[in-house]
Amino acid sequence: MSDTSVGIDAIEMHTGKLRLDLAETFAPKMGDDPAKYTKGLGLYASSFPDTYEDIVTMGANAAHRLMARKGLEPEDIGRIDVATESAFDQSKPVSTYIAGCLEQVFDGDFHHANKGERKFACVAGTQSIDDAYNWIRAGRNRGRAALVVATDTALYARDDPGEATQGAGAVAMLIDEDPDLVEISNAQGYGSADETDFLKPNQQFPSVDGKRSVQVYLARMREAVIDYESVAGKIQPDEFALLPFHTPFPGMVRKAAALAYRHMIRDTEVEESLADEIGRQPRPEAFDDDGAYLDAMGEYTDRLVETDAYADWYERVVDPTLDISRHVGNWYTGSVHVARMSGLRRALDEGIDLTGRQLGVASYGSGAQAEVHAETVQPGWEEEIAQLNVDEQLEARYDISFAEYELVHDVHNYDEETDVEEFTTPSEEFVFEGWGRMGERKYSYVD
Ligand code: CAA
Repeated sequence: MSDTSVGIDAIEMHTGKLRLDLAETFAPKMGDDPAKYTKGLGLYASSFPDTYEDIVTMGANAAHRLMARKGLEPEDIGRIDVATESAFDQSKPVSTYIAGCLEQVFDGDFHHANKGERKFACVAGTQSIDDAYNWIRAGRNRGRAALVVATDTALYARDDPGEATQGAGAVAMLIDEDPDLVEISNAQGYGSADETDFLKPNQQFPSVDGKRSVQVYLARMREAVIDYESVAGKIQPDEFALLPFHTPFPGMVRKAAALAYRHMIRDTEVEESLADEIGRQPRPEAFDDDGAYLDAMGEYTDRLVETDAYADWYERVVDPTLDISRHVGNWYTGSVHVARMSGLRRALDEGIDLTGRQLGVASYGSGAQAEVHAETVQPGWEEEIAQLNVDEQLEARYDISFAEYELVHDVHNYDEETDVEEFTTPSEEFVFEGWGRMGERKYSYVD
């Protein structure tokens, strides 16, 4: 096996072109206090696909921008992996559609690229990066890079509690040798178990046990951290400059971050320095039963998150990763990659030099599996992040009313027949234009 440095060389995103304001538009219709969204869940808006958008157009548009910016041709790509939990075909992978789209605008073709589709709920995007990493490290890439696209329309059934956390968008990433953005570490940790928390048994919208899904997220993440530490050593409180988590909604990350910090400071000078203010962390051996120990741990955590030390750490390491998510909602497979992008953008804006610093990337997929690994920020990161057009994309979205939201939800519901006019005018992008004779979806590029 080669010991070449492998990681993410470039990254791009494409948001669904419609925006639903959760506090102003959605909350009143649901009879909810807007603060449940903005403060509780930590969400201001969701992105939705326009009538001509879907997982293929969003993924192809992100990949197109990435390839054009990096001056790549199809022959430079040896592998296209798409991660999604919104696929519309049980056999033909979304990567073939995306390759077909890209062949409309680039010279050459992807006939010699290995294409696939990865499924494990939201963790599949990270798993696709893993596959690409292993392919390159095994020396099977013939000097070519891998294109990984994480694309989802994260829609829930109407009136499901998950409706508050919807979103739609795609992230395209180029995995290559000597990457410009981040190098991926060898060490990984997994927390994986057969769970029934969120699933789509041959149905479009998920069956969700929302409260349980939150607990499963935390439990699997904890296992993954312990597994990671078994190979990489104990994580130190300031080891990671940023901690991008899978972000179904920022409130979820707030819960995970508190447990992560508590874990990281145990048996360190930070725990010691906080002991006068909030006591030391309870240790299981001091308790007769698990319940009493967990209660004491919960109380300690409540005190910990009120400390200045925690607030300072959270503001530096976690909060920057949530900037984009707050305004787009859950992008399932793309969500943790949006979090990484978001944290790096904030660092660039604030003039923080991250070169050589570590990111701790914490991915999660329902069903359920968490994965934790480290990444080292590379010297080219500022240039890569500076060219992102995230703000332009978010600001260009069309704000939908509640009545329009109901129409949009129906347009993307396979069980509804609709005839709805598009809300925005496509320009320089791929669009869905209908079905072919075998039920395949057809796409074209609009200049
Ligand atoms: N002001 C301030 N905060 C308020 C508030 C108000 N007026 N009203 C409510 N809140 C707070 C609540 O206290 C709660 O916060 P805490 O959990 O910290 O107490 C938060 O807002 C949400 O309120 P509820 O718990 O009452 O909300 P809910 O029951 O309607 O739904 C949910 C919450 C279960 C997460 C639901 O949105 C859901 O099912 N989401 C989909 C599943 C999901 O995202 N799970 C996450 C883990 S699984 C995963 O990560 C995979 C994935 O991508 C799906």
